[in-house]
Amino acid sequence: MDSAPDTDSPDSPHCLIPAPTSTSTPHTPQGPPTRHPLHPHTTLHTTPGTEPLAALLRGGIGAATGLALPDGSVGRDRIVLRTSPEVAGRHGPEGYRLSTDRSVDDVAVLIEGGSAAGVFRGMQTLRQLLGPDAFRRAPLESTRQWDLPGVTVEDGPRFAWRGLMLDVSRHFMPKDGVLRYLDLIAAHKLNVFHFHLTDDQGWRIEIKRYPRLTDVGAWRSRTKWGHRASPLWDEKPHGGYYTQEDIREIVAYAAERHIRVVPEIDIPGHSQAAIAAYPELGNTDVIDTASLSVWDTWGVNPNVLAPTDNTLRFYEGVLEEVLEMFPEETSPFIHIGGDECPKEQWQKSDLVQERIRELGLAGENELQSWLIRHFDSWLSARGRRLIGWDEILEGGLAPGAAVSSWRGYGAGIAAAEAGHDVVMCPEQHVYLDHRQAGGEDEPMPIGYVRTLEDVYRFEPVPPQLGAEAAAHILGTQANVWTEVMENQSRVDYQVFPRLAAFAEVAWSALPAPADRDFADFDRRMTAHYKRLDALGVDYRPPTGPLPWQQRPGVLGRPIEGAPPNR
Ligand code: ACM
Repeated sequence: MDSAPDTDSPDSPHCLIPAPTSTSTPHTPQGPPTRHPLHPHTTLHTTPGTEPLAALLRGGIGAATGLALPDGSVGRDRIVLRTSPEVAGRHGPEGYRLSTDRSVDDVAVLIEGGSAAGVFRGMQTLRQLLGPDAFRRAPLESTRQWDLPGVTVEDGPRFAWRGLMLDVSRHFMPKDGVLRYLDLIAAHKLNVFHFHLTDDQGWRIEIKRYPRLTDVGAWRSRTKWGHRASPLWDEKPHGGYYTQEDIREIVAYAAERHIRVVPEIDIPGHSQAAIAAYPELGNTDVIDTASLSVWDTWGVNPNVLAPTDNTLRFYEGVLEEVLEMFPEETSPFIHIGGDECPKEQWQKSDLVQERIRELGLAGENELQSWLIRHFDSWLSARGRRLIGWDEILEGGLAPGAAVSSWRGYGAGIAAAEAGHDVVMCPEQHVYLDHRQAGGEDEPMPIGYVRTLEDVYRFEPVPPQLGAEAAAHILGTQANVWTEVMENQSRVDYQVFPRLAAFAEVAWSALPAPADRDFADFDRRMTAHYKRLDALGVDYRPPTGPLPWQQRPGVLGRPIEGAPPNR
């Protein structure tokens, strides 16, 4: 890298996050790298396959700079977008080469992607090179001259799966907030949005054949305020759901940004909202399921689905609509949960015990495994792949199923060694609901202390994995459970700035954790905070929470060492 004195300027190629594979600047011994202006007459030239990106470039960089970027295919003052087999070969389909130094084709900006997705990732780098004001939605002044540092960036991702999971059940995030999060994910070069749509505390997706799922299941009358051990309640009703049109809009918006969406319909645990809506889904011979309402507090819930034929047909009906809303091209994986399913009701239920005998199974774990395998075959027959939390390994897992390794690395290691694809998302490292500092002023602090630096030093591929098993690690994902995040601002606080560190872990080819240059990342964060400010992200400031970000007197559940049990 060049050691020119602009290193700390927020529009420097040395301040990119996530760090690219390489940057090269023309040799300028006497001073800072040359800068190249963009003009009011600068045009935009798309080539086959990149046409849909024009609207995104104009809506993003165009809106922020006030540059109209009309179509234009001749002349030097052009931004050119094109796909390149050579870049695909070198950096993969999501890789790109960005040149602003006129070294290639003598145009103002050339972005060559391994595919349209790669061009889009390169556009994110272009925005960072224009400086923090390029993250605003309108220009601050009409007379500003925009320019770019002369640089060639070569770049491509380490992992194909770079995800964020957002729980919209515990606290609903209205649709515009979800679209905003897709923009934030895209700005960090992430490419998977895991959409946790159902849980005990709310069912958030319209299913036309089962209207009570949202009529009843999308609302609760009050909400625990703080960790479940807190004595406090928010007595306001809480709720909301996405209509099928909302979902299609979200999926299309993600697809434009080359983000895959993984919808999660959680079975057979975390299902009290569904049981409240349709009591016959529960274990009716053990408890009076008709008396259940949508859960208003947190934790692992004993009220789980009854593994009856009726339940299977019901969830096939749900999934039929889910598959229509989430098409195969952008949602090859469907998440069926499978986590934290207490077996007490199954043990007590004569009906369930009879079913276990009928099916010749060894017990409740095998019954859960049988249920998951049923949906694995059902999804496979429809061209999709099942993914579930790592409990789905218990009792045996269908060969094509993939695993989200959340309870640590162990399950992911076992799954990868058994030939299953794995997304590494261990709660000890990348659960962004966990507190990010040890101070008393963290809002409703739960779980482990995981600082920005801790996340930066997270390694998705455990060193003990052999090459063949390591190839099964599809990538990594940060998870955000929203029990103590009552609104978007609280979600922002937990997610940022740590998502920036996570994005670099997922995208960049970093050395082993102990050898990572956190000081350099932290230096680049100075620029990145300015970008987040321009985007309007309510991140946790490095100096700690602002007064309105604190929740004095509201109980959390800080944990030292032991696994957190939300
Ligand atoms: C989980 O955190 N229960 C997947």
